[in-house]
Amino acid sequence: MARKDYKDLRSYRWYGVKDLRAFGHRSRTLQMGYARQDYAGKPVIAIINTWSDINPCHTHFRERAEEVKRGIWQAGGFPVEMPAISLSEPFQKPTTMMYRNLLALETEELLRSYPCDAAVLMGGCDKTTPALLMGAASMDIPCIFVPAGTMLRGNWRGNTLGSGSDSWKYWAELRAGNITESDWEEIEEGIARSPGTCMTMGTAATMMTAVEALGLTLPGAASIPAPDSNHARMASLSGRRAVEMAWEDLKPTDVMTEQAFENAITTVMSMGGSTNSIVHLVAMAGRLGVKLPLERFDEISKRTPWLANIRPSGKYLMEDFYYAGGLQGLLCELKDLLHLDAVTVNGKTLGDNIASGGIYDEDVIARRAKPLGEQGGLVVLRGNLAPDGAVIKQTACDPSLVQHTGPAVVFNDYNDMAARIDDEDLDVTKDSVIVLRNAGPQGGPGMPEWGMLPIPKKLLKEGVRDMVRISDARMSGTSYGTCVLHVAPESFVGGPLALVRSGDMIELDVEGRKLHLDVSDEELANRKAAWTPPARKFERGFGAMFAAHITQADKGCDFDILEGTAATPEPEIH
Ligand code: FES
Repeated sequence: MARKDYKDLRSYRWYGVKDLRAFGHRSRTLQMGYARQDYAGKPVIAIINTWSDINPCHTHFRERAEEVKRGIWQAGGFPVEMPAISLSEPFQKPTTMMYRNLLALETEELLRSYPCDAAVLMGGCDKTTPALLMGAASMDIPCIFVPAGTMLRGNWRGNTLGSGSDSWKYWAELRAGNITESDWEEIEEGIARSPGTCMTMGTAATMMTAVEALGLTLPGAASIPAPDSNHARMASLSGRRAVEMAWEDLKPTDVMTEQAFENAITTVMSMGGSTNSIVHLVAMAGRLGVKLPLERFDEISKRTPWLANIRPSGKYLMEDFYYAGGLQGLLCELKDLLHLDAVTVNGKTLGDNIASGGIYDEDVIARRAKPLGEQGGLVVLRGNLAPDGAVIKQTACDPSLVQHTGPAVVFNDYNDMAARIDDEDLDVTKDSVIVLRNAGPQGGPGMPEWGMLPIPKKLLKEGVRDMVRISDARMSGTSYGTCVLHVAPESFVGGPLALVRSGDMIELDVEGRKLHLDVSDEELANRKAAWTPPARKFERGFGAMFAAHITQADKGCDFDILEGTAATPEPEIH
């Protein structure tokens, strides 16, 4: 691969030229304690670090950033760590999704406004992964992703605990009176034992593996548990590689091709991955001008076997997946469904990178000949209730509910649901279809992960653990149940979900890809004419910017001003 000359690097404009501005850049770098030989003639490698004191999934990123720097120094680069907003899934309200595009924007502008020749992107906790890569794709300088890795298995009295999934499970048991408050406290102490992201097949694990399949990490990086010493070595090697990428000018547009996105979607489907990945992959692709209609996900799902036996759809956790062969092992089983010639950040093809992969526990990663399911995890639904599509995770549904017709029980918003869901007088049975509206991109705002709507307490006591639930919200990848999500257009902007009334019959047919409201077109038109839009939620600030520019779920919920590939000028150096 042809190598750049030093004068062709972006940073040369800051450091190399002989003018007053460059004098300032050099003298201010010396001010920070660096000697001239530390940076002169070297590529500047930005480390975009999403560490913060309030992100438990990224606790180890302070150390990892030092390990990345070690690799950069050793390979002859000049490392510059730049913190970016952390997007801590467990803490940030109303939802980290509200801020994904803010981190994407911050990443793009950090890389543009400073003398960066390449970047190491450090993320993992849910939205940090797509956000960093959306920004990097728009900036299009060489970038490599360091996934945070998943945390170790949780443990409670000999029971393995998985993030999120077992919280929901034991919360239902607590509400049903089957475990005590003291049990619940012990679970609280045992469910999150180390740094790292959720170790179920949540959005974090889904997106980290998808991004490796996209070609944006070193081979095998996404499967390494966060506390494993292999993770530290991977971080250091990623730093080394970023320096080479700067000289080679291997950019996101060389890697994030339509074929690479198809590899990522195939991976998500075979992993039983999170529904959130659809929104994120559509948004990431949109930054490169690659169109990913929802139907593409459905087509790939139909031809891709489900192989990863990971909770919530399966039995094991990501730590087990790593020991069983990890992503490289899984991808080896899918070779005929992948574009093996797709280029990755190490300069080799995906086919090269998985050549030595293997499966060491067939209960954790199923063989192609004996898949856990003939199809992938995610299904796209259409119908008069979701003209622009909706999504369901079929591998996380109770099989008895995937074809179901029942009367709607409608909640107008989250507060309405919280106030009434456990009311003993609520007119609801196990056959009802629970509907939540005003939980979409505008309505939430930010499409909070409310989509695993709670089962009414009186039904929990009767032993009911799953029901058909429908919303324009998202759902955590760690959640499960027959939950129809991402209904588009959302109710807040007048989508058909806004017109449903309690008692209306709703039909779900997962096999037939159908979501139907059994109300005549004429009646729906009358209801629409009488519908009044909800009041705007924000008059100023980021919320107002969000409301003005956010797109619907089927479009990836990017800001309309950030989509696409229109040129953005490089900063002037004077
Ligand atoms: Fe960070 Fe789940 S809370 S990945």
